[in-house]
Amino acid sequence: MRISVYGTGYLGAVHAAGLAAMGHEVVGMDVDPMRIGPLERGEAPFFEPGLPELLSRGVESGRLRFTTSIDTAVEFGDVHFVCVGTPQLRDGNGADLRYVEAVVRDIAERLDRSVLVVGKSTVPVGTARQLAGLLHDHARPGLGARLAWNPEFLREGFAVEDTLRPDRLVFGVEDSPSEEILRDLYRPVLQTGVPCYVTDLETSELVKVAANSFLAMKISFINAMAEVCEQVDGDVVTLADAIGEDARIGRRFLNAGVGFGGGCLGKDIRAFQARGAELGLADSLAFLAEADRVNDRRRDRVVDLASSLLGELAGRRITVLGASFKPDSDDVRDSPALAVARRLHAAGAQVVVHDPESISNARQAAPELSYEHDVEVAARGADLVVHLTEWRQYGALDPRELGEVVSQRLLIDGRNALDRDAWSAAGWTCHSLGRPSVGPWAGVTSAVPFPLSAAADSNKEEVA
Ligand code: UDX
Repeated sequence: MRISVYGTGYLGAVHAAGLAAMGHEVVGMDVDPMRIGPLERGEAPFFEPGLPELLSRGVESGRLRFTTSIDTAVEFGDVHFVCVGTPQLRDGNGADLRYVEAVVRDIAERLDRSVLVVGKSTVPVGTARQLAGLLHDHARPGLGARLAWNPEFLREGFAVEDTLRPDRLVFGVEDSPSEEILRDLYRPVLQTGVPCYVTDLETSELVKVAANSFLAMKISFINAMAEVCEQVDGDVVTLADAIGEDARIGRRFLNAGVGFGGGCLGKDIRAFQARGAELGLADSLAFLAEADRVNDRRRDRVVDLASSLLGELAGRRITVLGASFKPDSDDVRDSPALAVARRLHAAGAQVVVHDPESISNARQAAPELSYEHDVEVAARGADLVVHLTEWRQYGALDPRELGEVVSQRLLIDGRNALDRDAWSAAGWTCHSLGRPSVGPWAGVTSAVPFPLSAAADSNKEEVA
């Protein structure tokens, strides 16, 4: 099949490469030459495991090409995937639909034959039907262009796997020819037994926002439990393990910590609330506002904990481990790690940030912070180390070696992901979100004596 993909961000670039891997002829189109340049050479313009291999295979096979020309893309495809962004509006919670609308109009105006336009971007319910009208109004009369919706559920860091082996496919269609085209296009995936739900446009749009809302709610639920644990000296990790054993609840997405971020969950739950309000359903979706508030409070909690441990933050040196919103991604959009780093800096701390992949993106987003490519250099002289993105590298750190370079062995694990026993055995006092602290100075939660590691070495027995 000849397929054009519009927008080569996280979604479009992976989708285009995935379609080529399924055996289709694909043209990826983007207005940004900085994205298209590397893609044309088969290189990924962002960090995503497995994507460089998939891209270079596609480009070398000749099945995958990229262009900045909308004319070339419209001319080429029999199926046109719309993968452009729907960012949050600057002046509100709603989604900015101008890019999806522009692409559909641009395609419609250039069409000379019947094609299928397929939306993949995450949009407020009702958008697909409006876009179908736009396609109809701007295309030459009688051309018979159709619109379908095929939401994407890919996770950054697992985008290739999620594209080639998705949990499910969802087709929002208005007629059976559209369904047939999509079934044909996804045949290699469907043959593996992946469930496929064929439904109306509205339900297909809702599946995506409902899924993201549920995930955000699940994370905020466990983070709310972390707030309760903090108050009563409970342990949210054991709590999550125990309730997660119940198959109706499930353990996944119950990792309490500094909360969710990235380009999707926060934006999508806000856009859903805005759409809900337009539909007169503000009450039905009020819980999403609460999920958002819990999430933001967790970022402040790390800053509050740091100031209660260090006293004045002004002049204190804090090393932040992680800048991306999750591991295996260089994406810093709405990153909890970067937000906490910025809040610590704004409170007067000297913040040094380390991340294995996202430093150049982080530097652009938060130029006021200092960055280091080497963990040990970043940690040199630190009064506090704050772990905020659970990269595997951080799990493999030797707390003894790191303990040699810091000013005091004081850790906040904002992801509850490090081996606290190993860190405390190496002399670190470890504070977590929603768990009692461990280590030589675990009981001391206000302005610790300074420097703590030296004090800890001589006082260990006394404190224990
Ligand atoms: C999400 C959805 O998972 C995906 O299906 C959708 O297509 C796009 O949005 P993504 O943004 O890539 O994907 O990341 P995800 O793995 O969902 O994590 C989102 C955020 O939640 C990250 O900041 C992560 O650290 C955080 N998170 C996740 C938690 O804080 N706790 C958890 O238990 C799980």
